[in-house]
Amino acid sequence: MEQYPLTEDHVAFFRDNGYVRLDGVLSVQEVEALRVALDVAVEDRRRYEGNEGPRTDPGYAKVFLQMVNLWERYPAFRTHALNPRIGGIARRLARAGSVRLWHDHALIKYPKDSKPTVWHQDWVYWPMHETGALSCWMALDDVTVKNGCMSFIPGSHRLGPCDPIDLGNATEETLLAKFPPEQRKKFLPVAVEMKAGSCTFHDGLTFHYAGPNTSESPRRAMVTIYMPGGTRYKTLEHIIGDRSGLREGEEFHGPLFPVVAGE
Ligand code: SIN
Ligand code: NI
Repeated sequence: MEQYPLTEDHVAFFRDNGYVRLDGVLSVQEVEALRVALDVAVEDRRRYEGNEGPRTDPGYAKVFLQMVNLWERYPAFRTHALNPRIGGIARRLARAGSVRLWHDHALIKYPKDSKPTVWHQDWVYWPMHETGALSCWMALDDVTVKNGCMSFIPGSHRLGPCDPIDLGNATEETLLAKFPPEQRKKFLPVAVEMKAGSCTFHDGLTFHYAGPNTSESPRRAMVTIYMPGGTRYKTLEHIIGDRSGLREGEEFHGPLFPVVAGE
């Protein structure tokens, strides 16, 4: 497929609201290739890493199964993470000269006894000095409120960074409760339902949430995170561990953080 027909309206919507929905970014074939690869990754995790199923991680277990940096091990995820069509969208939304991949992660919300992904911001968990990094949340299934689609609070990215919360143990109120009632009344969450192959982009500071999966099937999403060129490394413990070899204050660079669009 060619470049995505991103318009200035899309960019303006993203800058204003902190998120945007883009329909039909991947073809049916591209989605299917990712679904097949995801099945393999889940099975590999079980066989070679001794994780017997989706429910073996404490804390997050009922929220989602998270698998990080699949692009390094599976060609289909590499193609996706380095997809210039998606990187090009990220670069334009971020109004950056270039973007690098920060990491990818698959997020599978399993049905039955499923918990919400409570309101949070992403950037506060990332080892970055600058804000501006953004996520592409690609639906690999049709997503609805019933199976745990994403919701966003428009404009919340302008509130700046809040304290990080423990996603495995917080309640839905934890982040929102930090704000006085008058301000909270202005928070008007938008649930974003969409088809497989469509995606949302959200700024690292945008408040977002996904409800429990009350359907009968897993809800699969593939998230790729991009940071504007020039973003500097900040010492901070992170889920993917510190493999970067970067020094405090140094610009992200090197093969773990490839340039996906621009130069
Ligand atoms: C989810 O897919 O449940 C949450 C995704 C996110 O927090 O970015
Ligand atoms: Ni998030």
